Amino acid sequence: MRSCTLLAPAKVNLHLEILGLRADGYHELVMILQCLELSDRIHLKPNDTIRVYCEHSQVPVDQSNLAYRAAALMGQTFGRGGVEINIEKNIPVAAGLAGGSSNAAAVIVGLNLLWDLGLTQPQLQELGAKIGSDVPFCVAGGTAIATGRGEILDPIQTPNDIHVVLAKYQSLAVSTPWAYQTYRQQYEQSYGDPASWPAKTRQFLSASLVQAIAQGNYQAIGQAMHNDLEKVVFPAYPQVAHLRQLMGKYAPAMMSGSGPTIFALCASPTQAEAISQEIRTQIPDPDLGIWVSQFSTGGIRASLNPG
Ligand code: C5P
Repeated sequence: MRSCTLLAPAKVNLHLEILGLRADGYHELVMILQCLELSDRIHLKPNDTIRVYCEHSQVPVDQSNLAYRAAALMGQTFGRGGVEINIEKNIPVAAGLAGGSSNAAAVIVGLNLLWDLGLTQPQLQELGAKIGSDVPFCVAGGTAIATGRGEILDPIQTPNDIHVVLAKYQSLAVSTPWAYQTYRQQYEQSYGDPASWPAKTRQFLSASLVQAIAQGNYQAIGQAMHNDLEKVVFPAYPQVAHLRQLMGKYAPAMMSGSGPTIFALCASPTQAEAISQEIRTQIPDPDLGIWVSQFSTGGIRASLNPG
């Protein structure tokens, strides 16, 4: 029986700006999304029903798992059976790193191969958008400007040789709907109407972050990075704000997505290791997980194993 093994990478946001509220209830965003080498390993095997297996205690194995929902969507759309999904979790969970979205993207890419569907990347991304706003980016990977609710993608050149330190309190999970709802409660009066969004987006595209990425300058990228959701997550989770402040002493640092992961940009693996040691010394709390990774040009990597 054929099976499929996939690498499903994490992402960080180099930019997350909330422009306003859409008619569908989502927020209109301008983001820059960056894929990392840090990846989960997913193994897919044909099965009568959908089954998810994962040893990580914080990963649900029921229908709330995005990988499960992706398999259900693919089965319904193409009239196929189930699949056994084994997830080897390396990406921190509920972290703002799109781990769940990336697993869903891997299932869509993998079932396209296992079931010989012949779908194109845009078709895979369109299916992914039905599961979550970050899933289309996870299918493609690399570096992209994301607009709309995050599903409209404009790929840009990935800067070379940028390394990252990621730190997250393992027991802390920030709910993405909570972060957006809280932001809305506090900042809705500053939202622009839909007519103002294209000009805001153009303004961002000509701003310093996009230029810094084109030049591959990690210090300049670090200085121009921005995440609106820090404004609601930091007051509610002071330890995350403190982590950002501490990491920012050693390298440019920011929260990814709705958090609570903080990442810092570095020029080399040696610098990344040194910073991770320093953070470990400064915060000896065993609950703090620290990972070292680097920017990746790719997305989901798949290989079919003959039966
Ligand atoms: O698309 P996804 O299911 O990943 O989004 C999770 C939640 O985050 C949404 O239910 C919504 O509350 C919020 N969200 C939003 N605007 C976006 C993306 C997400 O308000 N563009």
